[in-house]
Amino acid sequence: MFIAAAYCLFLFLEFSSTQEVRYEPIRSKGRSEDTELWSKGTDEYVRGYGLSFEWLNVTTQDDVELWIHHLWNPRIEGTKVPMLMVHALAVNGDVFLLNLPEHDLAMTLANNGYDVYMVNFRGSSYSPLSVEQYVNTSLDDCIFKDLPTTVDFVLEKTNRSDLNIVAYSKGTYVTLGLLANSPEYNRKVRLLVLMTPVTAISRPPLLLFSVFYFLEIGIKTFGTALANLLDTNLLLDVQHLFGVPFVIDRLAHIAPLGAQCVWNSAFSGYPDCISRTNLNIDLLEKMFIRGFPDKAYAREVIQFSQNSKSERFQSYSPSWFDGDAGLIFPALKSLLAPWSDDGSLENVKEYSLSAISAPVAILQANRELFSQPKDYTRIRNSLCPNIIGGKLSPHKYVFEVNVSNYLHVDFGVGAHNDDVYVNAYYMIIREHDLSLDSSLATVLGYVDADFSHLSPQSCDICSECDR
Ligand SMILES: *[C@@H]1O[C@H](CO)[C@@H](O)[C@H](O)[C@H]1NC(C)=O
Ligand SMILES: *[C@@H]1O[C@H](CO)[C@@H](O)[C@H](O)[C@H]1NC(C)=O
Ligand SMILES: *[C@@H]1O[C@H](CO)[C@@H](O)[C@H](O)[C@H]1NC(C)=O
Ligand SMILES: *[C@@H]1O[C@H](CO)[C@@H](O)[C@H](O)[C@H]1NC(C)=O
Repeated sequence: MFIAAAYCLFLFLEFSSTQEVRYEPIRSKGRSEDTELWSKGTDEYVRGYGLSFEWLNVTTQDDVELWIHHLWNPRIEGTKVPMLMVHALAVNGDVFLLNLPEHDLAMTLANNGYDVYMVNFRGSSYSPLSVEQYVNTSLDDCIFKDLPTTVDFVLEKTNRSDLNIVAYSKGTYVTLGLLANSPEYNRKVRLLVLMTPVTAISRPPLLLFSVFYFLEIGIKTFGTALANLLDTNLLLDVQHLFGVPFVIDRLAHIAPLGAQCVWNSAFSGYPDCISRTNLNIDLLEKMFIRGFPDKAYAREVIQFSQNSKSERFQSYSPSWFDGDAGLIFPALKSLLAPWSDDGSLENVKEYSLSAISAPVAILQANRELFSQPKDYTRIRNSLCPNIIGGKLSPHKYVFEVNVSNYLHVDFGVGAHNDDVYVNAYYMIIREHDLSLDSSLATVLGYVDADFSHLSPQSCDICSECDR
């Protein structure tokens, strides 16, 4: 009798602890309808799939107006947790909505009960800068102005004290920069998911190295004249004007091997026409419709380049402009001693990852342009005490995608992202939110997560990582 009662109690507890809500997944409408909807604008696109959408805006202390995407599932009642998505270089918040809805993390988060917001950094096409404003724009403006302004705006709007962040590439640089420098923001972050974290690229692959190398020499020779020219993004405007992207898109469909060659080489940093890509080639058209690549500014690329040279995660330094315009001597020195120690970068403020206390989960690509294995290891080790774990895997939540030739950009445009990482990371975020507030179980939808394409990564300095 007692045993039977205990068993019933066990069944009851078991049932109530696994009680879950599930929502109808969003299914894409097929290529032509999906692309047509996309060409009508991001708001129409999201609404076309049954979610709600609004544009918001906020102005920074230096008077730059930033637009913010906001999407959510209107059929879900109850308190929603805000989720802020922080985009990569040369794109904008739309990068999180490029993929077909069932492969897309942002759509999955919104459909399952998150209140999803997207930053649009200054200089991207939704948050344009006037000529006077972009003159000295570096990543530090995103770190110290754009991101904190957007975080505080979302917290105020939702009347909450904290939110989740998914950061992608440059977005991780900016978010880590903010959390390392402004301790109070760590308390505002429930969970930070770092997709392909980037701080300092210690040994850039050939193509990127060449870009950085010639950028340094160019800036040391031509100074602000070259920076101003790059800031105009002239090349992008010209190619968009003449419809070059659409030609590339057509060519890519006619000759997919050529597309594979260009795509692999651009995003791995080495010539490679052989490896199969994970790209859904149909998404090229969606990228070009939005004018991707979006604008990038000379000094943000210079900052990446300087961090790469010093191998430190640090502030932008104006030192490369010293002895401005036409001074051949400093340029010659760097030409003759490429990638040598650059004393001018030594006294620049370093951003310390160990100052970060917010909970973290990490996701790495397996073939990288912007973070080499050594860089990933350094980031993992520095953040190791903050990396969370849970019941979804016997390992802490730091994984590398285990799919052949999975590139940095594939988190946005990979053809099978739902199985690769979207469902698994959605469930990681959900599990963490439930651990902070179990009443969210009636709001946040359950999805079937597949961890089979994710390989756990270890941290050298923190034995706990391999639990
Ligand atoms: C910015 O948001 C405010 C409301 O907060 C709105 O009144 C204003 O029209 C918005 N600006 C633009 C350019 O949409
Ligand atoms: C904001 O949240 C606090 C509790 O966190 C609550 O006391 C207050 O009434 C809320 N304000 C609004 C406008 O909802
Ligand atoms: C840009 O930065 C330089 C120093 O690096 C400074 O001399 C100049 O005044 C700045 N320009 C603007 C428009 O802020
Ligand atoms: C990665 O995938 C391959 C093939 O699918 C598999 O054999 C291997 O065990 C996986 N590695 C990890 C660490 O999961």
